[in-house]
Parts: sequence; C-alpha cells; structure tokens
Amino acid sequence: MPPSRLRLGVNIDHVATIRNARGGDHPDPVRAAEIVAACGGDGITAHLREDRRHIRDEDLARIQAATSLPLNLEMAATDEMLEIALRHRPHAACIVPERREERTTEGGLDAAGQHNRLYPIVQRLLDAEIRVSLFIAPEAKQIDAAIRLNAPVVELHTGEYAHAEGEARAVELKRIADMAALAVRNGIEPHAGHGLTYDNVQPIAAIPQLAELNIGHYLIGEAIFTGLEASVLKMRELMDAAR
Ligand code: PXP
Repeated sequence: MPPSRLRLGVNIDHVATIRNARGGDHPDPVRAAEIVAACGGDGITAHLREDRRHIRDEDLARIQAATSLPLNLEMAATDEMLEIALRHRPHAACIVPERREERTTEGGLDAAGQHNRLYPIVQRLLDAEIRVSLFIAPEAKQIDAAIRLNAPVVELHTGEYAHAEGEARAVELKRIADMAALAVRNGIEPHAGHGLTYDNVQPIAAIPQLAELNIGHYLIGEAIFTGLEASVLKMRELMDAAR
C-alpha cells in the first residue's frame, strides 16, 4: 500500500505575536492563513491562550471566514475555552496544557491524571462534532487515557525529540513511532508537533502511522527570510521526500 500523504497544519500564532508587538493590525494572521491555503497547506492551527498573547478571539472568526481550510483550535481545558470552541465550532480542538508563565506549550497534557476534569469537556466538544485531539507526551499511559476519554486523535509532543541529540534523539524518535503505532492499533489517529524544523522533520514524517504534523514557530521564523509560501513549500517537500 502506498504511504498516505501526511497533512501539514500550519500554526500561525507567531504572525499574531509580531502584530501584537506594536498593538496594530499588521502583520495580519488572516493573510498568513490565506497564503497557507493558496500554497497547499492542509490546515490552520491557532492557539487562543488565556492571556491572548498572540491569537485573539476576533481572529478566530476572521480566519474561519477567510479560508475553507480546517481550523484546529488549540485550547486549554477551561470553561472559558470550551464556550469559545462551542461558539466558533472549529473543525478540530486540540486540548493542550497551559501555564501562564511558560513561553510555549512545554509539556504534554496529563490526560491520565486529569481524566475527571477532561471527560466532560471532551464529550461536549465531540457532541458538537468538533474533532478532539489531546496533545500528549509519547507515553503508553497517556494513550490509554486518550482511549478512556474517547478522543479520536492524539497529537504526540515532539519537543523532547527536537531538543535531544545523538542517541537520546533516536530513543525519543522510537518512543514517538511506538506510540503512533499504539494509537492506530486502538483506533486513534496520531498527529505530531512541536519544535519541528527543516533539519529534524524527516525522521518524524517517515513514521507511517502519523496523519498530520502541526508546525508553527520555525515556519514563521523562516518566512521572515524567504516568505511564507516558500517556507511552507519547503517543509512540504521535505515531508513528502521522507515518506
Ligand atoms: N502542536 C501543538 C499542540 C502546539 O501547542 C504547538 C505550539 O503552539 C505546535 C504544535 C507547534 O509547535 P512549534 O511552534 O514549535 O512548531
């Protein structure tokens, strides 16, 4: 069977980070979403943080109106974010852990330790036909927790892999590959993301069970030098070559 095409979701948060640095409306993340749509990206990912440091509430509706690409809303498991997700009805909601002081989403969601808190939130999103994904560390106990929560998707956190070197990176890669396979055996679609770059994406993209990668910071950073279309197309090329 030929390997299936790995989807690329582009996280446009950091276009909004630059916009917010000056408090105006440029650069507009909606324009980034339109470019991603025009150059063959498969989805737009945006994280509405509690402190609104990048994407803001009004951006969500504008992004949804501007492109027909599926929107993957990254959100903390809070009542406020649940209400926003139910109002906007994105294609998917990826539940992430969120700590106000962190610079980025530093670890995976403790789906195993927070079952009772997550269960009603996941169910309400699923009832609204929003595809729920859980952003988890590549650990069997977190996959087990995702099964118990009826999550159709998990996104495996690739941050440890991205930061590791040499033998340690090989160990992290194997963990991700094993957990992607475990997810599929249990009927869960595995995605992956965090810290992926041109240099480290290919071993991850080569994991046959993975259906989607979500990549943000590096693509937006490269776009400063080469343009967003070029950075997305180059990532796409590397992903395709790895499969
Ligand atoms: N996936 C999830 C769930 C994330 O929280 C993030 C970062 O916001 C990403 C993917 C993208 O990570 P990066 O910006 O390092 O590519």
